[in-house]
Amino acid sequence: MSLAEEILKLKKERKAVILAHNYQRGEVQDIADYCGDSFGLSQKAVEVDAEVIVFCGVDFMAESAAILNPDKIVLNPKPEAGCPMSAMITPLQLQLFKKEHPDAAVVCYVNSSAAVKAESDVCCTSSNSIKIVNALEQDEVLHVPDYNLAMYTQRFTKKKIYPWNGFCPTHHQITAGDILISKMDHPGAEVIVHPECRQEVIDLADGVYSTDGMLKYAKTTTKDLVIGTEVGIIHRLKKENPGKNFYPVSNYVVCPNMKMNTLETIRDSLRDMKTEIRIPETIRTGAKKALDRMLEIGR
Ligand code: 13P
Ligand code: SF4
Repeated sequence: MSLAEEILKLKKERKAVILAHNYQRGEVQDIADYCGDSFGLSQKAVEVDAEVIVFCGVDFMAESAAILNPDKIVLNPKPEAGCPMSAMITPLQLQLFKKEHPDAAVVCYVNSSAAVKAESDVCCTSSNSIKIVNALEQDEVLHVPDYNLAMYTQRFTKKKIYPWNGFCPTHHQITAGDILISKMDHPGAEVIVHPECRQEVIDLADGVYSTDGMLKYAKTTTKDLVIGTEVGIIHRLKKENPGKNFYPVSNYVVCPNMKMNTLETIRDSLRDMKTEIRIPETIRTGAKKALDRMLEIGR
């Protein structure tokens, strides 16, 4: 039996679904029941009718699924796959930041720990940060942990945003020079980038989208696209748009953590029912409030 057949058999026996982020390896995306961005995956995690969710992404994504679904078993095949950005703010640092700005609302990017979410008023993703910030009553907002997403959001709101200084090491590597070179290499193509990119990169782009936003945009444009985000998304872009060309802004835009899952890790996870994600109940209820509020506003 092939690995893929083993996974399909185990999936049926366990009444499981496989959710995968758009940056996962191509073979992992292909075996998944649903691929998406952070927001789409959170929505799916709530909707799916399954006893077990196998979450292929990085730690905060599987954690969010577990926070939202206390009655389902959430398995993370590779729990050591973390997001360095989410480790750039601790709950204690956020508590101190809140003391400095007592009147501000706290918007926390889902790329954060459950304990940081529990200290926040509402979560956001790259697809709904602007909508979430503008929906809040407060005129001041602490936006953590991604500096670039906070500053991109600031462009579309009159509210005063206080950013944290976290960043995504993968997106931070993309420079304005990379964009200028891509434009010269592919003169007829449009450049689209992720809001985790540096501000000078965003300034040079034709469009700024979450990963699902990029997939949607690719279907509407007749142009070829230069892609300023993690290269894993190009698998789906090519699959869904066979007539178009997609060029990574650079081949080094790789998130090593997103590449840790393989068909083997998924098979082992379903076979051995590991590793189940459990969040302490006191943290889970606080974090769920912030995620539920995002799901309500951010649709
Ligand atoms: P998306 O929500 O746009 O898929 O982004 C997730 C992420 O980790 C980007 O680095
Ligand atoms: Fe975290 Fe960046 Fe990897 Fe996304 S691409 S999971 S933000 S390190």
